Amino acid sequence: MTTDSFRPSSPLDQHASSPAEGFADVLVGLQYGDEGKAKIIDALAPGYDVIARFNGGANAGHTIDTPQGRIALKQLPSGVFHPHAKLYIGSGCAINPWKLADEIEQLHEMGISLEGRLHISARAALVQPHHIAMDRRGSGTIGTTGNGIGPCYADRALRVRNDVRVNLMLGDLIGNEADTVVAMRNVFTRMINSEGGTSPWVAEMSDLLLGLPKVAETLRAYIEPDRGWLTNRVREGARVLFEGAQSVLLDVVDGSQPYVTSSHTVPAYAYVGGDLSPKHHRRTIGVAKAIMSRVGRGPFPSELGGERSAQYCHDASQSSVGKAEEQSRFAADKLLRSSDPWDVGTALRMLTGEYGTGTGRPRRIGMLDLAQLREVVKAHAVDCVYLNKVDCLTHYTHSIYQGVPMRVHRDVLSADVMPDVLIYPGLTEQSLTLGREGTLDAAMNGFIDFVERHIGAPLAGLGLGPERASLVSLAAHQVAPVAGVSPHV
Ligand code: IMP
Repeated sequence: MTTDSFRPSSPLDQHASSPAEGFADVLVGLQYGDEGKAKIIDALAPGYDVIARFNGGANAGHTIDTPQGRIALKQLPSGVFHPHAKLYIGSGCAINPWKLADEIEQLHEMGISLEGRLHISARAALVQPHHIAMDRRGSGTIGTTGNGIGPCYADRALRVRNDVRVNLMLGDLIGNEADTVVAMRNVFTRMINSEGGTSPWVAEMSDLLLGLPKVAETLRAYIEPDRGWLTNRVREGARVLFEGAQSVLLDVVDGSQPYVTSSHTVPAYAYVGGDLSPKHHRRTIGVAKAIMSRVGRGPFPSELGGERSAQYCHDASQSSVGKAEEQSRFAADKLLRSSDPWDVGTALRMLTGEYGTGTGRPRRIGMLDLAQLREVVKAHAVDCVYLNKVDCLTHYTHSIYQGVPMRVHRDVLSADVMPDVLIYPGLTEQSLTLGREGTLDAAMNGFIDFVERHIGAPLAGLGLGPERASLVSLAAHQVAPVAGVSPHV
């Protein structure tokens, strides 16, 4: 149980300021991305009027299963499948217009129209062919997603290169399409010429430029020139949920350089990149994942298999080794029982499907790092945390750990005797089954208490399976405690 007794009854509570005005909550990932933010947004969306993006672009990604089939979204906010919700893409985003138009078309084919619902800031940065080429060429060192996001933000800050404006915005494309295409082609051509006249991507980039007028036509209806669009909605009473892309540990300044993304991922940036005054902020919601993962390079203190895992995953991504190859090479059940943490990490990746959504590359796997979460929660004053993939922790029962290993901060309980890793025993399939039915058994209650005490924030919900129904709201448990089981409060 946390010492500060704050527990959100629901993210829909009334905001303290003027009753006529709305408010904004900010939801961010607290680790290295891929924590399952979209799933939480999907659950919370009915309580909001606008879902808004404020950073990143097509480097983000989430797959959504719908009755009409599976769709991979990269740039549209996660609320697309909630028809009541308006969607906003703020000026802090880097837009790949080809991919965005494609997402809109795909939804259209599924019978979902975004007209009148989707608003994209005309000042959002425009990803250009030379950005994609530059990023692909230099992606190895950091392990970027190769979407041109870094070079796009760099050009935004550079503004002019060789006397040519390079910080193009979405509004430029819509306002003067012909000139924008010419400007993009010139910069790309100049880049190729300066490199000796060859590039493996010339044909692909030419095709992109040829297709741009059609793409501009698709996007035209959604471009929002009014800088105050979101402000006006909040003034009218709208409840906004900002959806962070990537995660706080990948922030361009706050993260561990250079192994970070190129935008600001911390919750405070929602109000810059999302075009709203911070006066409207109500609550910061964090999302974490019980089986941790990281893609690309960079520090990962709780990584199972340490540097060996990092190198293996790097090599695998370079040689396109993914899920199928690992499944033909390794027996997950056998690796899980090994005394080598690298084996355990590989087994967990295979058993819990930790491969990149867009790239298919194996993600590095780590144990739940409560010490790190504690720092993040404190730094960003996170009000409550949703913990996903708690069901996957039961795999550890069959490993040498025989319980859930978690990295903890030495000083949280007592200074001298605390080891860095504690094992929490007793989480069983039975605990999960009961949890999904709305009952928290003693083992699950103990686990929740343990996590809350170590991270210094209340848990608002647990992901006990991939399906919508397996997201357990802890507030609901509190309201209806189960007879014979000590309620978790
Ligand atoms: P970039 O954002 O493509 O420049 O990549 C920079 C770093 O951020 C790389 O390590 C990427 O793997 C990582 N990254 C970018 N987007 C995501 C994401 O959505 N989930 C997880 N990692 C990401």
